[in-house]
Amino acid sequence: MSTATRVTSLSPSLIRAMSVGAPPESIDLGLGVPGWALPEPARAALAQCAARDEPLGYGPNGGVPELVSAIGDYHLLDDDAADQVMVTAGSQAALTALFLAHVSPGQLVLVPDPGFPAYATLARLAGGIPVPYALGQHGNLDTQTFLSTLQGDVALAVINHPGNPTGGGASLPALAAVAAACRAAGALLVSDEVYRDVHLGARPASLRDVTSTGVVVSSVSKGWAAPGLRVGWVVGDPTVLAPARLVHNAMTTSAARPSQLAATALLRNSAEVLRQTRRELIQRWSIAQTGPAAVRPVATPAGGFYAWIPVPQWAIGDTLGFCRRVRDEGRVIVVPGTAFGSRGEGFVRVSCGGDPRLLGQGLARMAPFWEEP
Ligand SMILES: Cc1ncc(COP(=O)(O)O)c(C=O)c1O
Repeated sequence: MSTATRVTSLSPSLIRAMSVGAPPESIDLGLGVPGWALPEPARAALAQCAARDEPLGYGPNGGVPELVSAIGDYHLLDDDAADQVMVTAGSQAALTALFLAHVSPGQLVLVPDPGFPAYATLARLAGGIPVPYALGQHGNLDTQTFLSTLQGDVALAVINHPGNPTGGGASLPALAAVAAACRAAGALLVSDEVYRDVHLGARPASLRDVTSTGVVVSSVSKGWAAPGLRVGWVVGDPTVLAPARLVHNAMTTSAARPSQLAATALLRNSAEVLRQTRRELIQRWSIAQTGPAAVRPVATPAGGFYAWIPVPQWAIGDTLGFCRRVRDEGRVIVVPGTAFGSRGEGFVRVSCGGDPRLLGQGLARMAPFWEEP
């Protein structure tokens, strides 16, 4: 398939498409964005940058040294490990660069199902073939299922923990087993950990806690409440990063410099910023857990903003149609589980990240749709 055909075969994400045509005054529980203000350290850094009477240069392709060093410290890397860090325009650009650099046409890419839709999209864009693997109970990484799907010419495998949309996690033994299997199979393991610091209970594990195999992808978009900065990163083996750096340079030159300075301030103030994130999350999650019984989350997620809620029995098989009704008649935007893969049928994803008052109102508007049609 030519690159042009690959591009025209892509379709817009259903996550965003659901809000197109929504009635006026709809409550948006669709997009997964933090609904509280940009934390103060980032605001101060942006103001400082704007006040400087000096040229605003591009900066190094791989990120400004202050940020590279802050990311290294956050991931507990040695001081001389700058070549293990690559700064990108959000984790989305990190994933794009990794996929384009490491997947050749016709190769297989393992993606979680249900999972963040960009994984399958990027696999196709690179000419690869997405191979969905099922998750275990509550969306947790299930080693056996992953290993049994890891067959054939697999270029790259993605794990996402805590996961979007289910909030499922990955245990240390599961991470170790999956990493060992990918190493043996010669597949690049990409661990998407953007939700790692958005958690209610214990801090979830990182792939880096068990192995140096594979790469870890993250960003300031979720935990540090700064999606609009568009700053993310990859941490891993310099030989894996080298070709991805070339792709990222070709795509964007570098992440925006003021954003990188703001991201540095956020990371350097992680203790305070992440404490606020947990406070905001606890507040929202208690609203979801005490809301109408019909739309209460079934499990407490390992992390993330999302409630993954089963649709009523009668709506199974037409989750998209059901979500359109909830939107058009109930004026609440939620995302059908099928946006995340075929195994998402029968579920809706409700983002609890936004304004807490609207979350309560949105859940109240949704609940009647869970009764008989
Ligand atoms: C699992 C996951 N990975 C990556 C991203 C991309 O985020 P960003 O590019 O803002 O870092 C998202 C965004 O929603 C996500 O849910």
